[in-house]
Amino acid sequence: MNHAEEIWKTLVRATVDKKHPWRVVGFSTAGPEGPQVRSVILRAVNTAKHQLVFYTDSRSKKIADIAYEPRVALLFWNPRSNTQLRVCGIAAAETSELIVNGLWERIPEYARKDYATLSAPGEPFVNDSLAYDFDAARSNFVVLNVRVTSFELLRLDRSGHVRVRMEPDKNGIWGEFGLIP
Ligand SMILES: Cc1cc2nc3c(=O)[nH]c(=O)nc-3n(C[C@H](O)[C@H](O)[C@H](O)COP(=O)(O)O)c2cc1C
Repeated sequence: MNHAEEIWKTLVRATVDKKHPWRVVGFSTAGPEGPQVRSVILRAVNTAKHQLVFYTDSRSKKIADIAYEPRVALLFWNPRSNTQLRVCGIAAAETSELIVNGLWERIPEYARKDYATLSAPGEPFVNDSLAYDFDAARSNFVVLNVRVTSFELLRLDRSGHVRVRMEPDKNGIWGEFGLIP
């Protein structure tokens, strides 16, 4: 198995194993006010389309950042295998209502609350900020696809660190080359 195949397999595993360290990802954007980073959960992986899937709120700052600059960077760290994965990609909201509705249906009631706040995420907290509108929650829910344009893996090892960069060619075939760690 080459490095790219191994990475895709591990990413898929991270979506099903709730304890996998790659489940929580540093998601970085470059918006009009400069760079920003936040933790998000990796929800799904589409290996064939080279996509990573995240859920968020349409009113959140990251959505405004992505509208300004769709190129994003993601950071994964696995302390068990001493492996860092840096990902560059292009983010875009899923436009298929059918897909978004299907995923929404699978979100448990308690988690839907995250999308139901009357005030937008990040707004200053005032007394009635935590009022909910469950009817609006579905329309606030965004499925964010990140099409991976490159991976960079760094594996720390006493016998020698390994640093590998991977990019798909125009046919989607992953090529890789080593870098000085
Ligand atoms: C462990 C963890 C998981 C999180 N998962 C998500 C997530 O899947 N989607 C999301 O929008 N925010 C998630 N958040 C909240 C974000 O880190 C962030 O606070 C929020 O999305 C607002 O970010 P923004 O204002 O930059 O858009 C998570 C936070 C933590 C600590």
